Order: sequence, then C-alpha cells, then structure tokens
Amino acid sequence: MRDALEELLRRAEEELRHVSTAEGLAELRTRYLGRKGLLTTLLRNIGQVPPGERPLFGKRGNEIKEILTGRIEAALASLSAAAEEARLRSERIDVTLPGRPLPFGRLHPITQVCDEICAIFSRLGFTVVEGPEVETDYYNFEALNIPKDHPARDMQDTFYIEDNICLRTHTSPVQIRTMERMKPPVRILSPGRVYRPDSDVSHTPMFHQIEGLMVDKGVTFGDLKGILTYFLRRVFGEGIDLRFRPSFFPFTEPSAEVDIRCVMCGGGGCRVCGQSGWLEVLGSGMVDPAVFANVGYDPEEVTGFAFGLGIERIAMLKYGISDIRQFFENDRRFLDQF
Ligand code: PHE
Repeated sequence: MRDALEELLRRAEEELRHVSTAEGLAELRTRYLGRKGLLTTLLRNIGQVPPGERPLFGKRGNEIKEILTGRIEAALASLSAAAEEARLRSERIDVTLPGRPLPFGRLHPITQVCDEICAIFSRLGFTVVEGPEVETDYYNFEALNIPKDHPARDMQDTFYIEDNICLRTHTSPVQIRTMERMKPPVRILSPGRVYRPDSDVSHTPMFHQIEGLMVDKGVTFGDLKGILTYFLRRVFGEGIDLRFRPSFFPFTEPSAEVDIRCVMCGGGGCRVCGQSGWLEVLGSGMVDPAVFANVGYDPEEVTGFAFGLGIERIAMLKYGISDIRQFFENDRRFLDQF
C-alpha cells in the first residue's frame, strides 16, 4: 500500500509536467484530490493496511496531498502570471505615437454669412425675427401691395401648394406679420429660406434671403442710405464703392437697388458683372403707405424703410464663387474651404 502511494505521487507529478492550462490543472486536482479522487480513495481504504503501518501510511498520504496541492497551486499561479503578462504586452500603448485627428465640423458658408450679417445689424439695434416658409397669398403678396392679377406678381414666379397657399417667394411677409404684432418703433431682421421655380448657375429653387425693416417717427431715405452703406462696408470692406439706383417694388416707394463696384474686375467690366462694372446686391425702399395701412400703422405718423438681399449672392461675391449650386452639393472639398 505504501508503494501505491509513492506510485500515485510519481504519476501525478509526471502528469503535472504536461498540463499547461488552468482547466487541465483543475481536472487533475479533482481527479487526484477530489472527494472521489485517486488519493482520497486510496486513503479511505486505510482499513486494508496492516494496523502497524497505518500511522505511517496516513502521514505519508497527507504529505502527498500537501505536496500535490502545493504543486497544483504553484502551477496555477504561474499560469495566471503568464497570462497577465501576455495581456499587458498585447495591450501596451505607445504614447509617443501621433494621435488620430478627428475631422472638425464647421458652419455652412451660407450660415456663416447669414450670422455675419445678423451680427452687423444687431449692433445697430435690429432683432432677428423668423416666419413661416409656407405662406398665405395674403402675407406673401396682398398685404405687400401686390394684388391678384397685378403684373408685379410676375416679378416672382411662385410654387403654389393650394390656391391661396404658397412657398414664400421672399422674406417680406415677415415684415407684415411683425408689424401686425407690434407697434412702432420696429427694427427687425428676418433671415430664412425662400422659394422660386428657377434653376441655373445663379438661381436655385430654394435660396436664402434676409429682409430688414425699420419703422419709427421720422425715418428717412437718408437713414436707409446710411445704414445700408455702413452694412456693405462691413461685409465687403471699407473701400467698397456703391451706388443707389432707382428701381421699383410694389411695397416700397421710392425704391432703390444697391450696386457695388464689381469685386471681380474692379469696375472695368467682366463676365460676372455683365461688362457693366457694377453688381446688384440688394433691393430697398421706403415702406409704401399702402403697406402701413394694411397693418394699421398711420403713414402720417411713422415712416420706414425695408431692404431685402439674397444670402447666396452676397456669399458668392464675397468669396468669388461662380456657381450657386455648389452651396447645395455638400461636397466637402468645397465646404471645407470656409
Ligand atoms: N422682397 C424683395 C425681393 O425679394 C426685396 C426687397 C425687400 C425689396 C424689401 C425692397 C424692400 O425681391
């Protein structure tokens, strides 16, 4: 029986040398030392050992149990140390490597120009007001002194949704909505999308406008000229040359379009300015008394001016962009330049 114990130890040690996984070690432990394990079974049969040998048999059995337990634990410990080391090695990061840059988003050039224009006017006391893009015929036309069947309607071709409902063709309806809501003095700026069925290098069916309106006692054409001159110098530079050219809009009287000296050719004449040396940048005028009457303002008491401009057009001139469609193609190579 003593030999059986030594033989068991020898075999267990031999097996231990070949086991290299935690599962293998656990299996080995159960097989030798578990409740029904080889060693346990052997020790339980102590009754078959001659009585005189029993104490030594039991002692040696316990020693072997300790030896094997110790070996298995040591093997497990060195396995997990090796695993830990392998993990650390595989997870090691080289802090000297250059980082991976995240691409930065940025504001669309139209948004940038719109924000810039709003900032200039907010310093002059104008507040930003927005209005609906789907408008009634009344706000888009009638209230602005453009009656049905009036030839002035042809100035702006229109997307109709229903008989009396359209996509707004300009941001001017916001002046009506604002004046209906508040008493003078009024100083507002109204940016937003507008729609006209046009499409070529300088027109898209949707584009952006900013409308300005100032109404108070004693507002004059001189105020209009002063404020628009200040504004255009902020946007295009102090040295910009500009002129006010008589024009017509149904909702303003008198009306003027404002031109700047061509930023492409400096006035000599080129393709962009159609050889005229001038570029039209906005429409403006003194609010027509008929419009004041529509919103319940007394034209004898207050006067005002309004202006409207296309944001794409300003951005194109400012940045020298020749095709308006580039703003809407979402080509990062284009957009990343702003
Ligand atoms: N609403 C006009 C347009 O879209 C622009 C404008 C606004 C002209 C205000 C004069 C005064 O063409």
